[in-house]
Amino acid sequence: MIGFIGAGSIGGAVITGLVKNGFDENEIIVKGGHSNHTKLLGDQLGFQVVKKVKQLEDTEVIFIAVGANALDSVLAELKEIATDKLIVAFTGSASVTHLKQELGNVKVAHAIPNTPVKVGAGFTGITYSDNFTEDDKKKISSILGYTGQLVEVPEAQLGILGTVAGCSPAFLDVFIEALSDAGVKHGLNRELAYDAAIGMAIGASKLAKQSELNVSALKDEVTSPGGSTIRGVAALEEYGFRNAVIKAVDAAENE
Ligand SMILES: NC(=O)c1ccc[n+]([C@@H]2O[C@H](COP(=O)([O-])OP(=O)(O)OC[C@H]3O[C@@H](n4cnc5c(N)ncnc54)[C@H](OP(=O)(O)O)[C@@H]3O)[C@@H](O)[C@H]2O)c1
Repeated sequence: MIGFIGAGSIGGAVITGLVKNGFDENEIIVKGGHSNHTKLLGDQLGFQVVKKVKQLEDTEVIFIAVGANALDSVLAELKEIATDKLIVAFTGSASVTHLKQELGNVKVAHAIPNTPVKVGAGFTGITYSDNFTEDDKKKISSILGYTGQLVEVPEAQLGILGTVAGCSPAFLDVFIEALSDAGVKHGLNRELAYDAAIGMAIGASKLAKQSELNVSALKDEVTSPGGSTIRGVAALEEYGFRNAVIKAVDAAENE
């Protein structure tokens, strides 16, 4: 059995990704917050919803998906039952050091998923406490593997990895919307423009992932001398596209 505390945007996305990709919903227990959001999601996906953290006692792994404001009160409740469990917190401020301070010497991890976990195509960075064994890590991989890629990194890199993989779905959405606007400006209907832009983003990403060439070489392959694509690439440079992306990451990193 696995437990969740909080099933909002990211908790709900991870749970949805698990269930929609074959993880048994009967193996999931969720303690929700004050609204009836968790109950509605539970009715939809079939997992059990409970009212108290203590009711997660029979789980082996607990994922914490509450915001920073609720973290410490949740940890205080969790402390009673945490001893023999693997605790994984998605909360941005839940460093491994902080989790251990609040829970004692239990096995804790800090993970930052992104929203594509919802469709099993997520990218999650994770940092484990020193007392996590290889078998414990395999256990977490075997669960979060249902939601996409899981990559272990030192905690110092978790924040920037969370920005590059976690804030960027919104950046890509803006790009897709702009590309679709351009298609409409030049005569495509909106639906076809969105289909083309989204289909391209999926296909180009798959190609970038599977190709032996890096993205720069893939770009070189489709830019024939004096052709339309290199003219478009030059316009992106002229209007500061590359710099805008770097500045977007800077802005996300600097509170
Ligand atoms: N959204 C993302 O893409 C993302 C990605 C990675 C990490 N994170 C981090 O994950 C954390 C949560 O973000 P979020 O976007 O998912 O926020 P959110 O949508 O506000 O979800 C937080 C959930 O926690 C529930 N909650 C609050 N107190 C609780 C308690 N005592 N027991 C059980 N549940 C409780 C709330 O339920 P009620 O509303 O019903 O009270 C709410 O559904 C943040 O620290 C964020 O930085 C988010």
